[in-house]
Amino acid sequence: MKLLAGNSNRPLAEAIAAYLRANLTSATVQRFNDMEVWVEINENVRGEDVFVIQSTSYPANDNLMELLVCLDALRRASAKRITAVIPYFGYARQDRKPGPRTPISAKLVANLITTAGASRVLTMDLHAGQIQGFFDIPVDNLYAAPLFAPDIENNLGADDLVIVSPDVGGVARARALAKRLDVPLAIVDKRRERAGASEVMNVIGDVAGKRCVLFDDIIDSGGTLCNAADALLGEGSTGVYAYVTHGVLSAGAVARVAASSLEQLVVTDSIRATEGVRVTEKIRLLSVAQLMGEGISRISSESSVSSLFD
Ligand code: R5P
Repeated sequence: MKLLAGNSNRPLAEAIAAYLRANLTSATVQRFNDMEVWVEINENVRGEDVFVIQSTSYPANDNLMELLVCLDALRRASAKRITAVIPYFGYARQDRKPGPRTPISAKLVANLITTAGASRVLTMDLHAGQIQGFFDIPVDNLYAAPLFAPDIENNLGADDLVIVSPDVGGVARARALAKRLDVPLAIVDKRRERAGASEVMNVIGDVAGKRCVLFDDIIDSGGTLCNAADALLGEGSTGVYAYVTHGVLSAGAVARVAASSLEQLVVTDSIRATEGVRVTEKIRLLSVAQLMGEGISRISSESSVSSLFD
């Protein structure tokens, strides 16, 4: 097995390599003056089972291009099998046509990754499970829930706890976590009654006198979770926490979370944390290195990946 890392999340790649007791393959992944990506693999990979670790997070287009160029380099160097390990799969939110003359960019990105040379993909908490079907190569989609569940139990306990999906689209994901913890589920139903009117948050489920844990795949601007927290407190919840797989946390989000009514936000390191994220007391990081490393190990040894979640 060979592990290759792009530049999007070196600390995670190094932690995965440490878990697997392997070294990262020596490679040069850099830029020309005009920012074109340039890659050279400095070790022989002919006939090898190679895993390229690269999240397509901010700057999404640069990191995607790095991944594609690495895949092309490995294919031309005669690697036997190439797995694109994409802890955070960017462009996933563009998985359908929201209106006429709009692209389905998630499908385009799937085509690009396949054409560049990937034999298979390993990712985590895809925004929508059906994105697996956008690829004609095998896709293993890992879940952060088995990582979050013990952390919730250890830090919050399960008494008077409710898992909450911050929107209708995330219900299946939240239900799986609620089932794992054996606690009830609630849903925040976001609705704009008419164009131009402000959003109304309807809470479905009983949260009065209970502590709530919001569970989502992505936090970007932070608007969804911060507004949901206010709505839950308005319904009598005694405290709101949030667990999110991918901390996109774009401009202004960290300050919004810090000033919000959330008690704490837990995100994984699928996206490299900025200094702002690291120093914000309200935000805690959980590493997915072991989970991703185990996924890689099982793919390499051709053993079951799904049994990781039993
Ligand atoms: C949407 O369907 C996703 O699951 C997240 O809820 C969304 O991307 C969060 O975005 P923001 O933090 O900007 O509200």
